[in-house]
Amino acid sequence: MKLLITGGAGFIGSNFILYWTKNHPKDFIINFDKLTYAGNLENLKSLEENPNYTFIKGDICNEQAVDKVMRGIDTVVHFAAESHVDRSIIKPSDFVVTNVLGTQVLLAAALRNNVGRFHHVSTDEVFGSLNFNDKSKFNERTQYNPRSPYSASKAGSDHLVNAYFHTYGLPITITNCSNNFGPYMFPEKFIPLAITNILEGKKVPVYGDGLYVRDWLYVMDHCRAIDLVLQKGRIGETYLVGGMTNAVSNIEVIKKILKIMGKNEDFIEHVKDRPGHDRRYAVDWSKIKNELGWEPEYSFDEWLEKTVQWYKENEKWWRDVKSGEYQTYYKEQYGKI
Ligand code: NAD
Ligand code: DAU
Repeated sequence: MKLLITGGAGFIGSNFILYWTKNHPKDFIINFDKLTYAGNLENLKSLEENPNYTFIKGDICNEQAVDKVMRGIDTVVHFAAESHVDRSIIKPSDFVVTNVLGTQVLLAAALRNNVGRFHHVSTDEVFGSLNFNDKSKFNERTQYNPRSPYSASKAGSDHLVNAYFHTYGLPITITNCSNNFGPYMFPEKFIPLAITNILEGKKVPVYGDGLYVRDWLYVMDHCRAIDLVLQKGRIGETYLVGGMTNAVSNIEVIKKILKIMGKNEDFIEHVKDRPGHDRRYAVDWSKIKNELGWEPEYSFDEWLEKTVQWYKENEKWWRDVKSGEYQTYYKEQYGKI
């Protein structure tokens, strides 16, 4: 089988390629990535000599380049996106271009080239925000209600993917998953930002009261879920994917990290809240469990500790990505912290 992975140099995409080459070594993979600030080929250095893996630098918005790379592809797994909510508040247009237009360019090329499956990787953020105090969860029937430019652009991409199924019969599947964590996660996101700031002796910015809840999912559980959807998922269907955590707030997450790292709570700095900050996400993953037998296997506490260890052991990786453009972004986002 020949797979086209878009955005394979980013956090989840590179973990997925590492997962796939290990579990399906006979398959051919093309990684098509623009290498924005978030793309990093260091993540895939171990595959440089692998004859079944090819990297092509390119933009999903470029019709000619996409058409060329799509020839002979059996399966597309589409990760490429602008993915950080705070950056979408600073510059929404980049999100509309890549996440909406880029997805449409890919869909049109997949249709022209008779691709056997187009799998779209999306987010639980398209469903909006849950109340802090109730026990409700997102499921496949939850109405879309995106509230940030990022989630609005991902919602737009989901609608286009579904439209290509209903209108043109393109064989698609979609997964909407919760917050991933694990190795190679760019340190603009909360968990790696916290770990690397603490390693640098810097404070950790916690937005508002810190009582925001995310449904943390270890990245390898996510990769396994996509694998199952590709093997056994029903065409035209959406599957929600979530983790094992039970309503852990950001303040609890940072306290866990500080405990693992043997530091006290002086590292916590409450800062101005994110505009439109979604209060709580929680995912009901019973559909993918009942239909495909998937459930998360990696517990939050154990794999958070392993993730801290990974950042400790890979200091060069995060110091390199925290230089250059990151510094400009960090100053604009956080001021002097
Ligand atoms: P990331 O920001 O780490 O990586 C994105 C990758 O896409 C980078 O390698 C970047 O270079 C590439 N890219 C960006 N624009 C491109 C373009 N125009 N053409 C080609 N490549 C381009 O993102 P991530 O956290 O790995 O997320 C991957 C996907 O999963 C995204 O679609 C995101 O919306 C979705 N998702 C992420 C999470 C999460 O917790 N990180 C959760 C749910 C869904
Ligand atoms: O739910 C899935 C989504 O999870 C993905 O679609 C996105 O691509 C991914 O970035 C992530 O979005 P979040 O906004 O939830 O993740 P982030 O790591 O930015 O923030 C997690 C929580 O921590 C959120 O409540 C905001 C808070 N936060 C974040 C940062 C960066 C802070 O308190 N301080 C910070 O400095």
